[in-house]
Amino acid sequence: MKLSPSILNADLSDLLRAVERIADLADYIHFDVMDGHFVPNLTFGPLLVNSLREKLWLPFDIHLMIDRPAFYAPYFQVRPEDVITFHVEALDHPDEAISAIRKLGCRVGISLRPRTPLFLIFPYLDQVDWVLVMCVEPGFGGQKFMPEALDRIRALKKEIGGREVLVAVDGGIGPENVRQVVEAGADVVVAGVAIFGAPDPREAALRLWKAAGHPRN
Ligand code: DX5
Ligand code: ZN
Repeated sequence: MKLSPSILNADLSDLLRAVERIADLADYIHFDVMDGHFVPNLTFGPLLVNSLREKLWLPFDIHLMIDRPAFYAPYFQVRPEDVITFHVEALDHPDEAISAIRKLGCRVGISLRPRTPLFLIFPYLDQVDWVLVMCVEPGFGGQKFMPEALDRIRALKKEIGGREVLVAVDGGIGPENVRQVVEAGADVVVAGVAIFGAPDPREAALRLWKAAGHPRN
């Protein structure tokens, strides 16, 4: 398993330090970019994400919950190991976002809301590196995990077959369900409130690794 802590509910007034404190327990850092239109919440964009790019060696996992992903993706300064993920529901022609992100030289992710039929992303599995399965309605941290997501993870994993496409899962994941999610086939676990909502995020990240069956010290 790889862990991608979501900074949505971190102390944004001291973001760099918040991330640095758990950096050795993370494989990516997850940024939730929201435009107040595709989702009913407004967060941050390229200015904030880029301000951290030179200060952190961790790969960035940039989750675009916005209407015009192909237009905004080029504003992010990315490295080859970073991932920019867009939502299949945001576009009539997802290929546009795939090629816009691909051109930046980073990895391409596609995501879908919990109620979007899974087969809608199947045509793109040969063109993406990563599928982000939402286990809550996108927009806010700290929501309840939707258990139906487990079957979707399994079905997606099966459809991916031998392709080199990672399955990332996002929303409502904590020590109580991380193991189930990993057993269902998740390669990357995104966790927000379970880490940054805790009084001691470092201890919470350690607890998550342990609950997943991969203790770290
Ligand atoms: C929700 C975001 C998630 C969120 C996860 O729209 O995409 O990344 O930060 O937070 P938790 O783990 O608190 O559900
Ligand atoms: Zn997210």
